[in-house]
Amino acid sequence: MAQWEKVCAVEEVPANGRKLVPVGVFNVLVFNSGKRYFACVNECPHLGMPLETGELAGHVVRCNSHGYQMDLTNGRCLTEAGLSLPVFPVEVREGWIWIKV
Ligand code: FES
Repeated sequence: MAQWEKVCAVEEVPANGRKLVPVGVFNVLVFNSGKRYFACVNECPHLGMPLETGELAGHVVRCNSHGYQMDLTNGRCLTEAGLSLPVFPVEVREGWIWIKV
């Protein structure tokens, strides 16, 4: 059953930054685009490489391994149809980032 988890303070993920946080069985990657926070698993849906060094452009992250791009709003892979990245809803509450896992 999904539940909200407090993962870090907003100061820990500055604009255009990211932070890797363990949440239960997941390694969750939290991004700050400067306008919005996103959260996803730290595993590219292509071949499973970490996404933590990927480039973020708006709501799209590009994996550094082979360049696959994923839309962080819905997890859809923009490079290869049928692949998807698990993403999590994010909320900011009183200076803390929460995700629903
Ligand atoms: S593992 Fe990410 S693009 Fe290949």
